[in-house]
Amino acid sequence: MEVNHLHQLPVRMRRLRRSPNIRDLVCECRVGVSDLIMPLFVKAGITEPEPISSMPGIFRYSPEGIVEECRALRELGIKAVALFPCTHAEVKDARGSEALNPDGLVPSVVRSMKQAALDLITICDVALDPYTSHGHDGVLSEDEADVDNDATVEILSEMAVVLGQAGCDWVAPSDMMDGRVGAIRRALDETELTSVAILAYSAKFNSAYYGPFRDAIGSKKATGGKYLDKGTYQLNPANSREAVRDALLDEEEGADLLMVKPAGAYLDIISRLREVTVLPLAAYQVSGEFSQVHAAAQLGWLEYERMRDESLLAIKRAGADLILSYFAKEVAQEMSVWFEFAVCE
Ligand code: PBG
Repeated sequence: MEVNHLHQLPVRMRRLRRSPNIRDLVCECRVGVSDLIMPLFVKAGITEPEPISSMPGIFRYSPEGIVEECRALRELGIKAVALFPCTHAEVKDARGSEALNPDGLVPSVVRSMKQAALDLITICDVALDPYTSHGHDGVLSEDEADVDNDATVEILSEMAVVLGQAGCDWVAPSDMMDGRVGAIRRALDETELTSVAILAYSAKFNSAYYGPFRDAIGSKKATGGKYLDKGTYQLNPANSREAVRDALLDEEEGADLLMVKPAGAYLDIISRLREVTVLPLAAYQVSGEFSQVHAAAQLGWLEYERMRDESLLAIKRAGADLILSYFAKEVAQEMSVWFEFAVCE
């Protein structure tokens, strides 16, 4: 007689996958609107939002327009935005001096956001790349062969104070200089900006995924037309132990939150960091991650919404508490329609 061994199969995984309701009940991870932070671009001298060709649906807003956009985001339940300036060539110089102008674009926008009492956390990048003519995140050494770490850290500390005084809630050093988190903390504390938090871009990799962002803020090529290589300060994409070491240093120096960037190609880093720190962990789903989903969808090769949702879910599952993503607004819009958004089901 033939024996059906399958009748003796005590464990059957498919029992808990049988229906949408069961799958929903055993769902381990969801992405919600409170996880999401929207990055926004601002530019002086424009009246209408300016589209960015490599980032479908993303715009550069005027200083007035961005306040309105922030209001709309808050109404959708978004609780934080990260601001990035698109700076005109005339205000750029080799030292990125405009970064310290208290009446510059970003400090002015932060002030008008505070005046509008939007109840929205404002996050401002601390790095010189929107302001330097050469496009690097810091000032160059005398022989112009490299970025001068310590001179840059001094400027970044002042920049953080300028932003804090304008009313920025969280400063986000994205420059990857050594010692900047500690120096920024001291500078903020000395000026009584003790409640300004530091969201440290702790594990920021020298990535090809920043391309569309550099289109958006105009930092892709330096004035001489050379593409930038930030390899002397951003992490080598091959290195995960080094990323952990760098992030733990930021924690020691006083960071309030740590961040991994990009996110999708660095899920292992998110998950390793989740194991070694109890700080809140953020991940930045960067411009190239956003644009590749759009590009594949435009070609008809992949399903847009499913790709988008899966990409966010993977970042959350890896261990990120907060996700900076250019999808934040549209996902929040869909959630407000469906009330509860769960890509598990
Ligand atoms: C630079 C900065 C970059 C991003 C945020 N801050 C790019 C870079 O290092 O050139 C990238 C964000 C994105 O690609 O969405 N300080």
